[in-house]
Amino acid sequence: NGSGNTLRVASPTSNVATELADIDWDNLGFGFIATDYMYIMKCSQGENFSKGELQRFGNIELSPSSAILNYGQGLFEGLKAYRKHDGNILLFRPEENGLRLQMGAERMCMPSPTVEQFVETVKVTVLANERWIPPPGKGSLYIRPLLMGSGAVLGLAPAPEYTFLIYVLPVGNYFKEGLAPINLIVETEMHRATPGGTGGVKAIGNYAAVLKAQSAAKAKGFSDVLYLDSVHKRYLEEVSSCNVFLVKGNVISTPAIKGTILPGITRKSIIDVALSQGFQVEERSVTVDELLDADEVFCTGTAVVVSPVGSITYQGKRVSYGVDGVSQQLYSALTSLQMGLTEDKMDWIVELK
Ligand code: COI
Repeated sequence: NGSGNTLRVASPTSNVATELADIDWDNLGFGFIATDYMYIMKCSQGENFSKGELQRFGNIELSPSSAILNYGQGLFEGLKAYRKHDGNILLFRPEENGLRLQMGAERMCMPSPTVEQFVETVKVTVLANERWIPPPGKGSLYIRPLLMGSGAVLGLAPAPEYTFLIYVLPVGNYFKEGLAPINLIVETEMHRATPGGTGGVKAIGNYAAVLKAQSAAKAKGFSDVLYLDSVHKRYLEEVSSCNVFLVKGNVISTPAIKGTILPGITRKSIIDVALSQGFQVEERSVTVDELLDADEVFCTGTAVVVSPVGSITYQGKRVSYGVDGVSQQLYSALTSLQMGLTEDKMDWIVELK
């Protein structure tokens, strides 16, 4: 744990406690840490993924002419594993990520692992890196699957070969603010996605496209950027790395999925949790003017979980929000489910042991 003390946690499969990796578990942020193993599976164009293998974590070899490097033919996913007090390890809705990867692969002209292969390879990779799963309450193991055109191309065309890779690493809070409210700025010039584009899938390029506006916002002291639709420039889309929700009384609204917004698995789960708690939930077009009138605003995502928004600045005007109500209630409900502290009535949890 960085101080020379060896941390041990319960392991239900043996009487011997698992020894944790020697890192500072109390100060995990959301940054790169090299772990022990990654999973790699390959296939040629027109074929299906068959069997892959675990390898020591490390750099991979790619042709300088690979489709991912030259034309951005690639997708990524993000999901988390949690360590329970009894030593069990829990995954949250991994089939949903497998399905979303398939949907994205279809859009990007790539073959995709089946949902069963996806879930199985996630399990194998998590268990191989078990010592990197944070102790209960200290964070989670972030699982990052990548699907890419790894074969060489020059003329613009789908790659002749594909690689599916999974690596994992321990994470804490996504924003440097921790669980404190974040401050967003509405971007009025640059857009994240356009109708008919790839904004609705987890294409790697979608995330490079937000870096310029995000860097400018951070330089001005904001936590991140809230994007507007590129056609009318008045409907909310999403934040660089997460979906957005508004609360007004008992009604929770979020932009509808129409191809330009990522169909977040946390977004979908929060909608169900909110409905089960008696809120009315509306998936629709939400105007930027509605921000002025909202009681609360919050963001959802695998990495950010549920993050309260303390203020939003739009055209130089800053609006502040209450933060201790609905988002806190939904955050607690979701995270206690994910960590196995409440009954899994929705059947969302996959136990690994
Ligand atoms: C996630 O929340 O898992 C994402 O993929 C967003 C990423 C920018 C960290």
